[in-house]
Amino acid sequence: MLVSASEMLKKAKEGKYAVGQFNINNLEWTKAILLTAQECNSPVILGVSEGAGKYMTGFKTVTAMVKAMVEELGITVPVALHLDHGSYEGAKKCIEAGFSSVMFDGSHYGIEENIEKTKEIIAIANAKGISVEAEVGSIGGEEDGVVGAGEVADPDECKMIADLGVDMLAAGIGNIHGKYPANWAGLNFEALDAIQQKTGTMPLVLHGGTGIPADMIQKAISLGVSKINVNTECQLSFAEATRKYVEAGKDLEGKGFDPRKLLAPGVEAIKATVKEKMELFGSVNKA
Ligand code: 13P
Repeated sequence: MLVSASEMLKKAKEGKYAVGQFNINNLEWTKAILLTAQECNSPVILGVSEGAGKYMTGFKTVTAMVKAMVEELGITVPVALHLDHGSYEGAKKCIEAGFSSVMFDGSHYGIEENIEKTKEIIAIANAKGISVEAEVGSIGGEEDGVVGAGEVADPDECKMIADLGVDMLAAGIGNIHGKYPANWAGLNFEALDAIQQKTGTMPLVLHGGTGIPADMIQKAISLGVSKINVNTECQLSFAEATRKYVEAGKDLEGKGFDPRKLLAPGVEAIKATVKEKMELFGSVNKA
């Protein structure tokens, strides 16, 4: 069974740790993340971008696959299936398709329009017990063709959106998606502190979890971050392991061309990355 992200994030907030959101792209990734969460006895959020949803042939396919996998793998830790950076239409589609959590990213609208649309999504989602993440101040970098400038969110705007009744809030604090440039200034902890002061106990979400140094992650958690999104790092570890396998010529030897064998090193690499993150985020044994 899938659960909303609301309870797990409240617990994370109280316990001063963060739940990882790991983005999925296919069956292998989903299986790797679910098995690792179970092994670590950790709650987990499976993130699905609109592009990944399309790739997997649609949100209904994703929901059916994840629900069946949770059951057939005997997963007992809390699992939320969450739309990542959803559009207004995308969020509605996921609510219909059976996701247990959605992000409506209205950060590219003016604050009034962001508020109006976020309110509507909250009303539809809450009626079905589905949690909602909103965003203020766009996260930099590129994700699925969507390019954000990387802003530091205004704490007053964060409060306005938090007060609408969202379950979690993504606020830009200098974080970006993908790899961080060598001259990255780091996370803006002053801004994070100010946002949390204004928003009280609202679980804050840190996007762009790939490549943020461990000490910054820990400080961000101590200042109120309860959910951390990781996507690129799983992609990189998967690609690197697959490249090594192919370069070693193993895909051409014997039965090495069998897709189950070809993808196995990448799957193991994702498992290792997810485990390392769960340990760093402090969510191990918190299921
Ligand atoms: P990374 O790809 O930088 O890990 O960011 C993931 C993310 O924030 C998904 O919303």
